[in-house]
Order: sequence, then C-alpha cells, then structure tokens
Amino acid sequence: MKGLILCAGRGTRLHPFSYSQPKTLLPVANQPVLFYCIRKLIEVGVRDIGIVIHPSQVQISEFVGDGSRFGATITYIEQESPLGIAHAVNISRPFLQDEPFILLLGDNLLMDSLHNLVRRFQDNRADGVVMLSEVDKPQDYGIAEVHEGRLVSVVEKPVVPKSNLAVIGAYLFTKPIFEAVDSLSPSARGEYEITDAIQTMIDHGYFIAHTKTNGKYTDVGTIERWLEANRWMLTRELGETLGVGDGSVVQNCEIVGPVLIGNGCHIENCRLGPYVSIQDGVRLSNCAHIENSILLENSTIHDVDWRMKDSVFGRSSFLQGSCNKKTGMVILSDKSAIQLPSKGGDGT
Ligand code: G1P
Repeated sequence: MKGLILCAGRGTRLHPFSYSQPKTLLPVANQPVLFYCIRKLIEVGVRDIGIVIHPSQVQISEFVGDGSRFGATITYIEQESPLGIAHAVNISRPFLQDEPFILLLGDNLLMDSLHNLVRRFQDNRADGVVMLSEVDKPQDYGIAEVHEGRLVSVVEKPVVPKSNLAVIGAYLFTKPIFEAVDSLSPSARGEYEITDAIQTMIDHGYFIAHTKTNGKYTDVGTIERWLEANRWMLTRELGETLGVGDGSVVQNCEIVGPVLIGNGCHIENCRLGPYVSIQDGVRLSNCAHIENSILLENSTIHDVDWRMKDSVFGRSSFLQGSCNKKTGMVILSDKSAIQLPSKGGDGT
C-alpha cells in the first residue's frame, strides 16, 4: 500500500504566516503539521509516500528530504494549479500505479491512528474507505449520508446537509478511483472534488466503507484552528508539564503547563502557559503572562506588562513595551517589529 499526502494548497487563510512557508510546514507543538501525516502513514506500515506540492514549495522537499529520516521513501509530485483533491490524485497516478493507497490532506491533523481505516479495508474487501467525523458546521465539508450502516452519498459543502458527518482528510482508495477522477467536471468552485469521485464510485456499484473517528480532528486552515491544534498536541505530548530543548535557559519563570520550549532559547522573568509553544532561538524577558500562543523561531518579546493570549509571533519578529490594556492578542508576521512606549517613557 502507498501513501499520498496533499500539500499544494495556497493556505490563504493563514496569511501572513503562510507567505514565507507552506502551511503544512507551520509547526504544531514545534513539529510541522506534515510530519504528523508522515508518521501516521508509517504507523500503519506505509513507507512509500508521495507528497503533492506546488512547484514553488521547494521548502517542503528541502525540509522533509527523501524520507530516510522517517524510514520512508518520499517522491515529490508537482501540481501546478490548485485544481482540487481529485486532480491531485489523477496526476499522481504514475506514482501510485494500481496499488491501494491512503490519501491524506497535509493540513489535516487527526488524533486517531489510521488503523481503523486500514482494518475496514481489509475486513470488508472495500473498494475505498472514508473517515467520518461529527462536525459543527457541516456546510464547510464534504458530508456523508449513511443509511443502515452503509455510505450512500457524499456531497461537497451542501447548503442543506443530510447529516453532520463530515468526510475528513483521510481516505483509502483502490484502482477504480482513477476512472472516477477521470470522468469528473470541475465543481462550482472550479475544483475536481474528491467527494464527486467517491459518489461516482458509489453510483457505479463500488463499495465505499466508512469508519467514524471520535478522536479530535481539525484542519489547520485558520489561525484559530492552528492554535486549537497546538493545544491538543501540547496536551497529548506533555500533559501539564514543561518541555525544554537543548541549550535553553529558563530563569525565574512561573510556568503553567503544557508549555514547550525549543532549543537555544533564553527566557527570563516571565509567566507562561498554559498552551504555549516556543520554537528555537526565542528570547523572552519580563513578560507578565503569555498564554495559548505560538512563537516561531527567533522571535523576541521584552517588557510586556499585559497578558498576551491567542497570539502568534512570526519568525524573527520583535515586540517590546507596555500598553494600556490588561489583555491583548498579537498576530505579528515574520521579521516585523513593534516597539510600544516603555512604562512612563515615550515610545516610538
Ligand atoms: C476538503 C474536501 C472536503 C473535506 C475537507 C476536510 O475541503 O473537499 O470534502 O470534508 O477537505 O478538511 P476543503 O478544505 O478543500 O474546503
């Protein structure tokens, strides 16, 4: 069995952070989202993995490499235009050949393993398997209709959803998917939809099994959901503890875990947590309270006398100074700097 991970999306809702790096490389608990996908495949024994990228996303191939560090072999497949999931599957056919494959959306973070997906395929001799999850806003997803235990329809972002069961970003397909993706026309949003391909398979009498996940699931598609995914992963990795990387100094701090500090950081006189992840090379001093936030590499924060929450600091960003608020949220892009007035002084 092979694996296919899709990473070519533009990630516009994660601007400004996805300007400088593809969204699938943005860190959740200091690990790129994409790494969780790769590990999920390896966990079920899938080591021959294709990653679909946009030609401009060389950062992905440079960063992830040939897969040897994961014990996998990675092949990069270029998708020039964002024409949808089914299109990505179609252009990956030379890599996938006729083998069954697991398809993962590279920005989807799934807390469950893929074991149930694989088991359903093996036990039911299915032609495909989809993973379903109950969601709050069914209009935003591909929605499944299950009748007497059998998947009978899937509709992409229905105005009037037949259920709250979304088809989430983990699928298993066999060879007939290629006939189905080949026969599609673009949807109203101009994409070749994987839901339409699944419906085509069902209409042609193929059996698509399903498995429901009760584990948490999110697509790291907005800053709010990125912070949410970070909370889940920090809790899973650390419980309520503090993780500190190599060469980091943490002095005179009050920490409420989970808090994860990367390598080579210097943190002094701060109250941190819960749910803060700090990448390598970050410098913090005299911060009254930072909570539920993500600080990317080499960001610096000094002398902040207010409580900062739900914030994201870009790479090499800088913030210093007080403000007349008790609580605030800051979204600061890479290399941006804010210098607020120091207490009682003039700021610039
Ligand atoms: C895509 C799929 C949709 C699925 C969703 C899961 O939507 O088209 O069927 O439910 O991923 O995240 P998109 O993220 O392209 O809006």
